Amino acid sequence: MFAAKAIGNLEKPEFYRELADQLGALLAGESDPIANAANTSALIFQMMPDLNWAGFYFLRSADELVLGPFQGKPACVRIAVGRGVCGTAVERRASVLVEDVLAFPGHIACDAASRSELVVPLIRNDAVLGVFDLDSPLPGRFDNDDQVGVERLAAIYLAASS
Ligand code: SME
Repeated sequence: MFAAKAIGNLEKPEFYRELADQLGALLAGESDPIANAANTSALIFQMMPDLNWAGFYFLRSADELVLGPFQGKPACVRIAVGRGVCGTAVERRASVLVEDVLAFPGHIACDAASRSELVVPLIRNDAVLGVFDLDSPLPGRFDNDDQVGVERLAAIYLAASS
């Protein structure tokens, strides 16, 4: 059994160092990309405060993301590249941090409670495989420390999964 250690009281950089260690331990010895995406979503949703959604979308063709493992309310299944925050992160091949989703043109509202969002692309050998998406009911929930920390978590997921 994997037991997550309480780290909610730590400052963000230290919080993400601890969470990265825990994710590495959780995924150690397993390379299945779906199983690892499921456990990555579960750990992050459990450990990060003020989230209402955490999960994966995978590129199933050159122009469309398809929903993968996640935690939170049921979500839209298909997102075209270039659409919404997720499709924008694929198009830009870079993380997209949205402090106020109501002010982001084309934001796709899967859960009406979402107010801010952080989407990190999954890139291996120059190929975008998908995105990891975090939603919060709080405006401005994510900052640069979160972006750096979640990019590191995404890298740990990619390194573990084949
Ligand atoms: N808000 C995302 C859609 C996915 S849900 O948040 C789970 C977007 O605009 O791409």
